[in-house]
Amino acid sequence: IDISKLRGVTGGVTTIDPGYKNTGSCVSGITFLDGEKGILRYRGYSIEELAEKADFLEVAYLLIFGDLPTSSELEKFHADIKKHAVVDDDVKKILDAFPKSAHPMGVLASLTSALTAFNPSSVNVDSEEEMYNAIVRILGKFPILVAWTMRKKMGLPLDYGSSSLGYVENILQMMFKRPDEDYKQNKILVNALDKLLILHADHEQNCSTSTVRIVGSSHAGLFASLSAGISALWGPLHGGANQAVLEMLEAIKADGGDTKKYMGKAKDKADPFRLMGFGHRVYKNFDPRARIIKVAADEVLGDLGVQDPILDIAKGLEKEALEDQYFVDRKLYPNVDFYSGIIYRAMGIPVEMFTVMFALGRLPGWIAQWREMRLRKEPIGRPRQVYIGENERAFKAASDR
Ligand code: ACO
Repeated sequence: IDISKLRGVTGGVTTIDPGYKNTGSCVSGITFLDGEKGILRYRGYSIEELAEKADFLEVAYLLIFGDLPTSSELEKFHADIKKHAVVDDDVKKILDAFPKSAHPMGVLASLTSALTAFNPSSVNVDSEEEMYNAIVRILGKFPILVAWTMRKKMGLPLDYGSSSLGYVENILQMMFKRPDEDYKQNKILVNALDKLLILHADHEQNCSTSTVRIVGSSHAGLFASLSAGISALWGPLHGGANQAVLEMLEAIKADGGDTKKYMGKAKDKADPFRLMGFGHRVYKNFDPRARIIKVAADEVLGDLGVQDPILDIAKGLEKEALEDQYFVDRKLYPNVDFYSGIIYRAMGIPVEMFTVMFALGRLPGWIAQWREMRLRKEPIGRPRQVYIGENERAFKAASDR
C-alpha cells in the first residue's frame, strides 16, 4: 500500500469502531500475526524458533533493524548499548523521592520520562543516526531503571552490574546481586528470562504500541513516547494482567482452591470478575506464546526444584475452561500472561514487578514501531469522532441556572 496516496484524505465518511477492532492504523513490516491460526512471526521468523534458538538482544536487533545481526553487528550493537549503561546521578534522587509503596510501573514511567531531562540530544531526533543513538541509549539505560525500581522496592542498594556480562545476564545481576555477595549466574534463570523477554518483544498494534506510535507521531521523542507506552501497558486489561493473574490464583488458593466457583463467577454477567489471563483481542484459537510459556513454566519450576501449588490451580482452570461452553463459544484461551507470572515468581521477582518485566521485554518492539513510524514519515495520529452531545445552547449566568 502506498500510504502517501492516502494522505490528505479527510472530510469523508467517519467510521465508528469502538476499541478499533477492525481499524488498521498503519502498514507495518515488523510483526505478522494470524489470530485464527495462532501464528506469530517477527520479521518473518516464527516465535517458536526465535524463543528456542535466539537470545533477546538478537531479537531486539531483528525487530528494530529488520534482519538478524551478523556476529560483528551484534557485537557493535551490544558495545554501543554498554557505552550508555549509566544514568545521571540525579536519577537516583528522583527514585529516592518515591515512597517505597509506589507501584513500580508508575515509577518506571516517570523515570523514563525523566531521562529526557538528562539526554536532551535524544529528544528531537530526525536522522537515522540520531535515532540509532537514542535507541542504544535507551537500551542501555532502561534495564538500569527496571532493576533499580525493583531494588528500591526490596530495600537493596542500587547497583550497576558488570559490563563483562551478556545483556540479560547483567539484567539479572543488576536486579538480584546482594551487597558483598559474589553473584553467580544461574543458566536456568538466564534462559528463562531470555525466553520470556523474546515472547513479549512485539505484538503489532496493541494498546501500548499504538500509544507509542501515536505519541511519537506528534514528534514528542522516543523517551516520551515510551513513557506513555509504559502507562498504557500498566492496565490490568493489557500488561497488568500478569500481576492480576497471580493475585487471582493466590485468591483462589486462599479460598480453598475451588476453581469451579471462580469459573462460575467469570461466566456470571452480574459479577465483574473475569478470569485474568484468559481471552485475547486477536487470538481466537490459541495464543502461541502461551503454549511456549506453559512448557517453560514446567521446565523452570522443575529445574529450580520449586513446587508451586499455584501452577496446579492454573492448569486446573485451563483444563476446565477448555471444556466449558461459555469459554469455547467465546474462543477464550489462556494468553501469554497466564503462565508468565508463575515463572517470574519462581525467579524471585515480586508480583508488583511483573508488568515492569513485560515492559522490559516489549521495549524493542516499541522502539521498532516508533522507528518505523518515523522513517515512514507518518502523519500525526488524530482519530475523529461522532458527536452525540447537546446542540447549540445559549449561555446562562450562574444566578439564572
Ligand atoms: N473472563 C470471562 N469472560 C470473558 C473474558 C474473561 N477473561 N474475556 C472476555 N470475556 C467475555 C466477555 O464478557 C464477552 O462476553 P459477551 O460476548 O457475552 O459479552 C466476550 O468474552 C468477548 O469479550 P470482550 O471483552 O468483548 O473482548 P475484547 O477483545 O474486547 O477483550 C481482553 C479482550 C481485554 C483481553 C479480554 O479477554 C479480557 O479482559 N481478558 C482478561 C484480561 C487479560 O488477560 N488481559 C491480557 C490480554 S493479553 C496482553 O495484553 C498481553
